Amino acid sequence: MRVVFLGPPGVGKGTQAGFVATEFSMQKLSTGDLLRESVGKRTPLGNEAKLYMERGELVPDKVVIGLVEEKLASPECRNGFLLDGFPRTVAQANKLSSFLEGNGEALDLVVYFSLPQADLIERISGRRNCPKCNAVYHLASIPPKKDGVCDVCGLALIQRNDDKPETIQSRLVVYQNQTEPLIQYYRDRGILSELDGSGGVSAVQERLVVLLSPLG
Ligand code: AP5
Repeated sequence: MRVVFLGPPGVGKGTQAGFVATEFSMQKLSTGDLLRESVGKRTPLGNEAKLYMERGELVPDKVVIGLVEEKLASPECRNGFLLDGFPRTVAQANKLSSFLEGNGEALDLVVYFSLPQADLIERISGRRNCPKCNAVYHLASIPPKKDGVCDVCGLALIQRNDDKPETIQSRLVVYQNQTEPLIQYYRDRGILSELDGSGGVSAVQERLVVLLSPLG
């Protein structure tokens, strides 16, 4: 199964991508996680990406496309994959399509997660992450057992730099201008399904299972 998760910042793509990858035994590729890993390791790619990410802008297409193509060519992705946060521009979508066509493959489904903007801001503002294992929490809806501490690692949770109020707005504008056109792009190709991202994590999971089970 070859699936893309598309949707605005904070809608819950990453939270559900972990669940779906396990449930359907798919290789998950999250460009946000891959880029943050490169930033953390201070690789040349990470150093370049950091400047864009901190401003809430997209990292240049050529950087992200190179990163994703390298991963997609790996044996782990041969039997399918789940792309979380890629593609995010029409240029990235075109590249992905030619890459897959070159291998005689195609996407099965693009899941477009939707949620009102006020809920997106609430989810992003309350997000806290573990700096070691990347576990994602929410201060109100998915709190850790002990305040401010990761359940898995016991480390102090942090707030992503790009989750600060001054950056959230620019990420939403970037999404509207550069990523939203992909909704129509994939609708025109007949592979887009809209998923209601509201409600609790398990309610969204149930909707995803209904959507993806016929493909698996
Ligand atoms: P990335 O990390 O991909 O950020 P994003 O798309 O903006 O998505 P988020 O991580 O903000 O949200 P999410 O939808 O995964 O929500 P989550 O599950 O965490 O990208 C970061 C940056 O990297 C970009 O700004 C860009 O600079 C760069 N980048 C990445 N990909 C790129 C690309 N392809 N091209 C160019 N640049 C790229 O949930 C959010 C919060 O809500 C959490 O606290 C969670 O616990 C909570 N939550 C989740 N589900 C629920 C629920 N059902 N109910 C209540 N709370 C919930």
